[in-house]
Amino acid sequence: MLVLAAGQGTRMKSDLPKVLHPVLGRPMVRWVLDAVDALEPDSTVVVVGHGAEQVADVLPQGTVTAVQHEQKGTGHATLIGLGAIDWSPGDAVVVVYGDVPLLTGATLAATVETLETSDSLAVVLAAEAPDPSGYGRVVRDSSGDFVKIVEHKDASDTELAIAEVNSGIYAFDAEHLADTLPKLGTGNVQGEYYLPDVCNAAPGRTVVAHIAYEEMSGVNTHAELAAVSEIRRARLLDDLMRSGVAIEDPTATYVESTVSVAAGARLLPGTHLRGATTIGAGSEIGPDTTIADSAVGEGCHVWYAVVRGADIGDAVEVGPYASLRPGSVLRAGAKAGTFVETKNTIVGEGSKVPHLSYLGDATLGTGVNIGAGTITCNYDGVDKHPTVIGDDVFIGSDTMLVAPVEIGDRAVTGAGSTITKDVDDGSLAVERSNQRQVPGYGDKLRERKVAKRRAKEDG
Ligand code: UD1
Ligand code: CA
Repeated sequence: MLVLAAGQGTRMKSDLPKVLHPVLGRPMVRWVLDAVDALEPDSTVVVVGHGAEQVADVLPQGTVTAVQHEQKGTGHATLIGLGAIDWSPGDAVVVVYGDVPLLTGATLAATVETLETSDSLAVVLAAEAPDPSGYGRVVRDSSGDFVKIVEHKDASDTELAIAEVNSGIYAFDAEHLADTLPKLGTGNVQGEYYLPDVCNAAPGRTVVAHIAYEEMSGVNTHAELAAVSEIRRARLLDDLMRSGVAIEDPTATYVESTVSVAAGARLLPGTHLRGATTIGAGSEIGPDTTIADSAVGEGCHVWYAVVRGADIGDAVEVGPYASLRPGSVLRAGAKAGTFVETKNTIVGEGSKVPHLSYLGDATLGTGVNIGAGTITCNYDGVDKHPTVIGDDVFIGSDTMLVAPVEIGDRAVTGAGSTITKDVDDGSLAVERSNQRQVPGYGDKLRERKVAKRRAKEDG
């Protein structure tokens, strides 16, 4: 199997090599490799060139690459790839381009079978294109037999009117391929070695088989990337719904291919699930929630929240308007409520952080209640320091916990306190001046203000 992925993708107008542009969070070329792997080929070689190292980095471990230093055309790339394959006479060599992320393994299997069951040296897949512009055209004679593939730029006006186009997916007899590739010329408008010329070298022994136009969609532009992603997205959501996930509005739900969602979960509009994320059964996610690289347990409720690199146990409540940053661990029955931010923090079982708090580098025991407005002052401008809170602690509203600091089990802090010293188990820590009362002074103050305003109004 050869996957050609050395081109730059000029039409994307991007520094990122074309085959690395993501479809549902995965580089395009990985989708192509999935289809290739389904065939379980003896060997697979990916021809890389433009951004070779970057491309090689995203390939599955053990993928063999061959480098095409100069992009002299698809025929040249295939020649280089074939040099890295250990083939024997009689073998089939499948060649695909790295920019067709809707390709399936079933199509490739059928292509190989056609080669093996016919007396052909090449099988090329073609489709009727609604707009054939840009593609190579399949030219046939008056009795409908294959004559050649001609590139758009080399085609005559009559040939340009042909709607049957080359998909860029082929199965070749290995010997024919090896014999023909070194003999290809560059006598064409682009001055390139064209792979379709391998078919053209043996027109009588080339079979043109068919593929659905949608499946062969090649990505050359951002608009095509979006169109292909949309098709993959709809398929993935369809699979999820079939497996028992409730999705209220599939047109407003975004799930990457790396995510797993258990049956019985419910996704509401505006939900974005990315990267290595898992969602447990019975959890309701959204509306308007982004979860990336995080595990969410069963029976959770996460809404209007941004969750990244977090580990959320069962029956946890998050949001509305919470931001859980990397290293946040919320154990079973915990809560991070409205306008709460956590980072590198463990919230123990059943502990609640209901409103307006920032917890960073903190460890909370079980059954803790964090009062509204509490902040762990974890950063001294140079270093970060830990806050440790025991079990069943009650932190009063608007407590500043100046780290490093430890609060013992069952301790209580008074509202508005700035806690700079450790608090023992079962103790109350209050840090604020005593409240004073001046009898009658409230009334006096008001009278004075009213008099002042009247004087001003009177001129
Ligand atoms: C190619 C076909 C065309 C077909 C179309 C289908 C040729 C000459 N033309 O045109 O008949 O209709 O695909 O989408 O093959 N690549 C390399 N090295 C190179 C050149 C290209 O590895 O030197 C790789 C690219 O990374 C890409 C693939 O080959 O993945 C196809 O190249 P591209 O330039 O997109 O070919 P098209 O012009 O689309
Ligand atoms: Ca292309």
